[in-house]
Amino acid sequence: MPRYLVISTEIITMNAKIRALEKSDIGKVLSGWKAAFPFDDIPRERFENATLNDPNYVADGHLVAVHGKRVVGFVSAVARRGVLGQDGKGTPAEKEYGYIKGLFVLRNYSEPIILKQALLKHALTFIKSEGKSLVKVGHYTGSFLNPGIDVRYTNERQFYRRHGFDEVDYEEDVSINLTNFTPSSYHIAVQQRVAELRVQIQPYQDDFLAEMKRFVKRLQYISWFPSGWEKDFPYQGTHLVAIKDGEIIGWAMYNPVFYEGFFGPIAVLQEFRRNGIGTALLLESMIMMKMEGMSTITAGWADAPFYLKSGWATSRRYAIFKKRLSKN
Ligand SMILES: CC(C)(COP(=O)(O)OP(=O)(O)OC[C@H]1O[C@@H](n2cnc3c(N)ncnc32)[C@H](O)[C@@H]1OP(=O)(O)O)[C@@H](O)C(=O)NCCC(=O)NCCS
Repeated sequence: MPRYLVISTEIITMNAKIRALEKSDIGKVLSGWKAAFPFDDIPRERFENATLNDPNYVADGHLVAVHGKRVVGFVSAVARRGVLGQDGKGTPAEKEYGYIKGLFVLRNYSEPIILKQALLKHALTFIKSEGKSLVKVGHYTGSFLNPGIDVRYTNERQFYRRHGFDEVDYEEDVSINLTNFTPSSYHIAVQQRVAELRVQIQPYQDDFLAEMKRFVKRLQYISWFPSGWEKDFPYQGTHLVAIKDGEIIGWAMYNPVFYEGFFGPIAVLQEFRRNGIGTALLLESMIMMKMEGMSTITAGWADAPFYLKSGWATSRRYAIFKKRLSKN
């Protein structure tokens, strides 16, 4: 008797059935995710944005394994069509890549490894069917769940290595506790340096839009500013800009959420970097978030050395995995 049967797009293991993710599954998927990944606490809205609401979402890449009424496993895989993809954020360097955003099977399920292998196989088949030759776990610049696999999940890392993936890179989240935060002597020196350059840090205003467009054109960061970015920009968070001689040369965004704030992205035009402008934007965001009652701030998938200089510390580390897909 075969271990599992393949019937069109459905794989049926001895106990569980694999089918497309439905909106009504999400509560159970999130509970399963939390049980499988104890360091993760993914809010429902973020999960929906990274799965069903991702413009690159395709049903064949988003599967749940169900056993009776239980959701016992889940996989999310995505592949941009063409270079840009539906989110307009793809670059030529990413053209050959598909991504696994998340994969779990409940440990207390009777056949976790077989089911996990089946879900992985399905994700890889989907990515290949979209014409991609490489797959990464992590580094997806669209709506992602995590930048990679938290390095503390040693079993997960082992699982991907056993299935032909190489651990190719690492990314970090950084955080700071604001409870006792006051600007350091480093910050005060930066503020003086930035003032001497006649650079001002200001909240973004609607009438800066034409200047913001010029900044975006010079910056060329398609993953943060895809075509049509202006539409959602005012609703995405609080924006600060660095202005010199009437021109925007730097920008940062932050989001206060209950007591924990989120910072980023941040960018300074290449020719103005290493002058303290990024730090001035970061500092102003920290001051504003502290005033708004935030006790901690996190920046995900961050350029850590820049933040460490301002008193932040690494809070999570992620491993990125890569695999070349076989041609046949
Ligand atoms: C990250 C970024 C915003 C920093 O802006 P900046 O104006 O150059 O930052 P600062 O001049 O305030 O740098 C402060 C310190 O951070 C560190 N730092 C800044 N950029 C760094 C980099 N790329 N690598 C290592 N350290 C860096 C340095 O120690 C620097 O101090 P120093 O110049 O005295 O050595 C800018 O490099 C940028 O726009 N990068 C591209 C977009 C990006 O990657 N954003 C970060 C996403 S989290």
